[in-house]
Amino acid sequence: TTKIILDTDPGIDDAMAILFAEASPAIELVGLTTIYGNADIDTSTRNALYLKQRFGFQCDVAKGATQPLKREPVGASVAVHGENGFGDVPIEPPTISADSRPAHQYIIEMLKASPGEITLVAVGPLTNLALALEQAPEITKLVKEVVIMGGAFGTHEHTGNVTPFAEANVHDDPHAADIVFTADWPVTVVGLDVTHEAFFSTDYIDTLRDTCGEVGEFMWDISRFYLDFYKTRMGVDGCFVHDPSAIAYVIDPDLFEVRKGPIRVVCEGPAEGLTLQKYKDTGHKTDEWANYPPQNVAVSVNDQALLDLYLDAI
Ligand code: BDR
Ligand code: CA
Repeated sequence: TTKIILDTDPGIDDAMAILFAEASPAIELVGLTTIYGNADIDTSTRNALYLKQRFGFQCDVAKGATQPLKREPVGASVAVHGENGFGDVPIEPPTISADSRPAHQYIIEMLKASPGEITLVAVGPLTNLALALEQAPEITKLVKEVVIMGGAFGTHEHTGNVTPFAEANVHDDPHAADIVFTADWPVTVVGLDVTHEAFFSTDYIDTLRDTCGEVGEFMWDISRFYLDFYKTRMGVDGCFVHDPSAIAYVIDPDLFEVRKGPIRVVCEGPAEGLTLQKYKDTGHKTDEWANYPPQNVAVSVNDQALLDLYLDAI
């Protein structure tokens, strides 16, 4: 099994990813670290604690950053995830509390305690990971792997989801994303190029409700609001598989084809949040891209196998 710390902004598809990680025998969910994004930090932390308590997770929950490193906060995605981050399905306040350490400190201490054993999976804005790297650069040598849902590299016709060019998690804190992608640790980015290739239809989510007990029913309930957004905004009956795709990569990387090369993020201006990968030799004599480590960008996915894996685990 792979030990993971999952950095997340729950969030409807975040909840789908968390429940997937918890359900999969291939993963040991060590900790949830929370981040602002789909909801503010208090709401996303409350939601993580709610899931832990309701479904009896053994993992830690550590509360993360309130705002991005440098840019003005974009604000919660209320139109996509509702006011409470769970599609406005009423949530009983959890009676358990978060770890006393801030998320980035928790990440540092856990990586130091188990060198080479923990995979960091991030499915929200990357501020906590960037803070951990800034405070303890040596963690690049202690992590097993870093898997990120974020970015849009234009490998398919799809581009951004919050701007024509930017994906939400990267756009929320582009400076943090650039720090994480250019650090010398092994990163795989699962971006919109592949998450837009996997689709949970309304029928599929009905099947989760009908065959997966309380977990399936909960996912069905919170996804009503999310599906309305997809229907209104894109005219489709279902939703893309964003955050669960990062978990699927951890369980079975062979579901994805990846491309290698350094990654940078445009941090300001009209293309703010745009992700770029240099994946072939361009023959330029001065090439500052040579200063950065090659990372993986997922460019295709076996979507049917991913859907089967998800249903099977849940
Ligand atoms: C990402 O943004 C958030 O709304 C989702 O939870 C996912 O992590 C998709 O761009
Ligand atoms: Ca998310």
